[in-house]
Amino acid sequence: EDPALQAAFDARIDADGRIEPQDWMPEAYRKTLVRQISQHAHSEIVGMLPEGNWISRAPSLKRKAILIAKVQDEGGHGLYLYSAAETLGTSRDQMLEGLHSGRAKYSSIFNYPTLTWADVGVIGWLVDGAAIMNQVPLCRCSYGPYARAMVRVCKEESFHQRQGYEALLVMMTGTAEQKAMVQDAVNRWWWKCLAMFGPPDADSPNSAQGMRWGIKRVSNDELRQKFVDATVPQAKVLGVTLPDPDLKWNEERGHHDYGQIDWNEFWETVNGNGPCNKERLATRVKAHNEGQWVRDAALAHAAKKQARSIK
Ligand code: 3HC
Repeated sequence: EDPALQAAFDARIDADGRIEPQDWMPEAYRKTLVRQISQHAHSEIVGMLPEGNWISRAPSLKRKAILIAKVQDEGGHGLYLYSAAETLGTSRDQMLEGLHSGRAKYSSIFNYPTLTWADVGVIGWLVDGAAIMNQVPLCRCSYGPYARAMVRVCKEESFHQRQGYEALLVMMTGTAEQKAMVQDAVNRWWWKCLAMFGPPDADSPNSAQGMRWGIKRVSNDELRQKFVDATVPQAKVLGVTLPDPDLKWNEERGHHDYGQIDWNEFWETVNGNGPCNKERLATRVKAHNEGQWVRDAALAHAAKKQARSIK
């Protein structure tokens, strides 16, 4: 590495500046961003599947329209993020090969089944709520294209969270069965959402460097705590109980204490052995293969257009 270039890069990072695609950057910085942004994009694309299953089963035309809009947004976020990652020199094919081969990660949270309609509301409220916590600081990421992509993504995420919470509010004014359905979904998703923020800071190999580079602005544990503190009052308004007997306000800390997360279960899921990992990956591979004709047609059309323009 040329020391003058490294010094200029360090000075830019220390001054909280932005690194742009054409700027020199250490290979390790580039590699970290390709890893994080591509896995973030994979998470958005795979994230379409759990709730996508409910588009044809939504209880009303209004809910169906909202859900279609949300799932379509997630697909857009994925394409946005793949484009941001491509500015670092990786290709779409490379990233998709990483996902389809099982080598690349995507957010653990999408490897659980959506058993009832209440899951769709809980995913909006808790999963998208957690995603907002995790994505807002990324709007200040040192890498320009990623930070700018996050500004647009975060605006749409807040719609995702609100529509989920509103759907649950409606169910909580319904029958006893509907209320029980919501509580059951909260019981199944709550702990998985806490784990979604990533391992405890002490067990996070990437955090220290990510924070030095201004990629990770807030630590996993701090975001997790922020999410718990923000969600407890929302659960009260909703009238659901969060499934953690150790969850209680700690005046001294000015935060809620909460119980132990099952990290073995988390790593099992991250490493491909969750309830739906195989199904999610098979669905993505099938969709990609069945979409080959679209890619061929688009390339053929582009080649014809180019040939015409040369005449
Ligand atoms: N699921 C799967 N893998 C996870 C994970 C999770 N929830 N949390 C951490 N990991 C992985 C990391 O990717 C890393 O593995 P790798 O080195 O092979 O990539 C390993 O566990 C150690 O974790 P670290 O905390 O050391 O890793 P990071 O510093 O990269 O932090 C992260 C992990 C907080 C997920 C960070 O990468 C990040 O902020 N990523 C971008 C945001 C993102 O992906 N958000 C969640 C999905 S987006 C979403 O929810 C869609 C919304 O529309 C619902």
